[in-house]
Amino acid sequence: MATDLKVEQEFSKVIRERHSVRKYDPSWKISDEEIKELLGEAILAPSSSNLQPWRFIVINNQELKEKLLPVANNQQQVVDASAVIAVLGDTEAYRNAETIFDQALEAGFITPEVRDMMATNTYNAYSGMSPERLKDIALVDGGLISMQLMLAAKAKGYDTVPMGGYNAGAFRELFQIPQRYATVILIALGKAAVEGRPTVRLPLEDVTHWNGFQA
Ligand SMILES: Cc1cc2nc3c(=O)[nH]c(=O)nc-3n(C[C@H](O)[C@H](O)[C@H](O)COP(=O)(O)O)c2cc1C
Repeated sequence: MATDLKVEQEFSKVIRERHSVRKYDPSWKISDEEIKELLGEAILAPSSSNLQPWRFIVINNQELKEKLLPVANNQQQVVDASAVIAVLGDTEAYRNAETIFDQALEAGFITPEVRDMMATNTYNAYSGMSPERLKDIALVDGGLISMQLMLAAKAKGYDTVPMGGYNAGAFRELFQIPQRYATVILIALGKAAVEGRPTVRLPLEDVTHWNGFQA
C-alpha cells in the first residue's frame, strides 16, 4: 500500500540521518512541552514485563548544565545543547507491578484474574532476582528507551548524542540519585550547529551469525 511505503521511507530516512551531534546552537531552545512530547513517544518502548524501569532527569537549566559539564568530561554539548536527558534505570521496578497491571485492568486490556496473576507472579519473580540481574534488566530497558528517544528526536528534526563519558559517581552525587537507580546514559538534545560526522559500520556479515555462533 502506498501509505505503508511512505511510512517505511520516512523511518528509513530517520535512522540513516541520525548522527551523533556534538556541536549545538546554544541559542536554540526546545520547550518543556516539546521535551514532554518526545519523552511521551520514547516511553512507548518495550521493557521487561512492561515494568518500565526508565526514569529521566531533564536538565535544561543552564546553571545546572554548567555544573554537569566537569562531571561529563567537559563535553561542550552538555552546555550548548538545549537539554540533557539523563536516563536512569530503576532496579526495583517490580515494585510498580501492581500499579501497572491495575492500569491495564482499568484500560480493559486484561481481566481481574489476569491482573492478580500477573501482579503477583511479576513481583515474586523479580523480587527474587539478584541485584546484578536486576541491574542488567534496567540497563537493557534503559538502552531501548534511549534509542527510541534519539530516533523520536530525529524524526522531529532535533539532534542528539548519547554520552557514556561521564563520571557516574560524581553524577549521582550532583543529583543525589538513590542507590536503587542505575545510571544508564546522558543524552544531549538540541539543534545542530555543525552536522554530525558520518560514521562507518562493520560489514553485516562480520556481525551476524545464522543459526549458531561461528567463532
Ligand atoms: C553507550 C554510548 C556512549 C557514548 N558516549 C559518548 C560520549 O561520551 N561522547 C560522545 O561524544 N559520543 C558518545 N557516544 C557516541 C558514539 O561515539 C557514536 O554513537 C558512534 O561513534 C557512532 O556514531 P553515530 O552515533 O553518529 O552513528 C556514545 C555512544 C554510545 C552508544
